[in-house]
Amino acid sequence: MNDVFIHPSAHVDSRASVGAGTKIWINVQVREEAVIGVDCVISKDVYIDTGVTIGDRVKIQNGVSVYNGVVIEDDVFVGPHACFTNDRVPRVFNVDWKIAPTLVKKGSSIGASATIVCGNTVGEYAMVAAGSVVTHDVPPFTLVAGNPARSMARIDEAGNKVGEIDHGR
Ligand SMILES: CC(C)(COP(=O)(O)OP(=O)(O)OC[C@H]1O[C@@H](n2cnc3c(N)ncnc32)[C@H](O)[C@@H]1OP(=O)(O)O)[C@@H](O)C(=O)NCCC(=O)NCCS
Repeated sequence: MNDVFIHPSAHVDSRASVGAGTKIWINVQVREEAVIGVDCVISKDVYIDTGVTIGDRVKIQNGVSVYNGVVIEDDVFVGPHACFTNDRVPRVFNVDWKIAPTLVKKGSSIGASATIVCGNTVGEYAMVAAGSVVTHDVPPFTLVAGNPARSMARIDEAGNKVGEIDHGR
């Protein structure tokens, strides 16, 4: 793992892969078979579960857990304490539960403390406002907010609003 910074308090499994230029900060855990791309920042207290795939130049802020079944593409921002789920109907005694995959597409941003209910896709360059609960797919280039998250505006690559949305999600 050349050119990778791993803080001494972090634990990165030897079967994980971490791309060049990536920084892994205090108390981070990266599980087996996880793949993290180049030039990422994985901030304090982040948990990256088994088999998770994270693209290049992704920034994940403090306290985020990324569970098995979540794929995060290139250039995604994940705000502090955002929560990804992977079991739609959790029961401690269901031994045959299935992972519902979540896809977070290129260039999108997830606001602080947002919850992404599993089985949904956050579209390219979409933005999920702080504290939102995402229960449906988020269209590309769209700002969503609230619980449940509804479409608020069309946005450009930089996140600027470029149009209104009257109805829908
Ligand atoms: C969604 C966001 C981008 C909107 O910013 P904005 O365009 O400047 O919006 P405004 O502050 O003008 O608010 C517009 C309306 O949306 C509402 N709104 C703003 N943020 C909201 C949120 N997170 N959830 C629900 N509604 C929100 C406002 O209350 C306001 O509603 P009103 O017109 O009824 O008063 C911003 O509020 C946000 O959540 N950014 C993410 C911050 C974050 O998590 N950063 C992570 C790194 S620290």
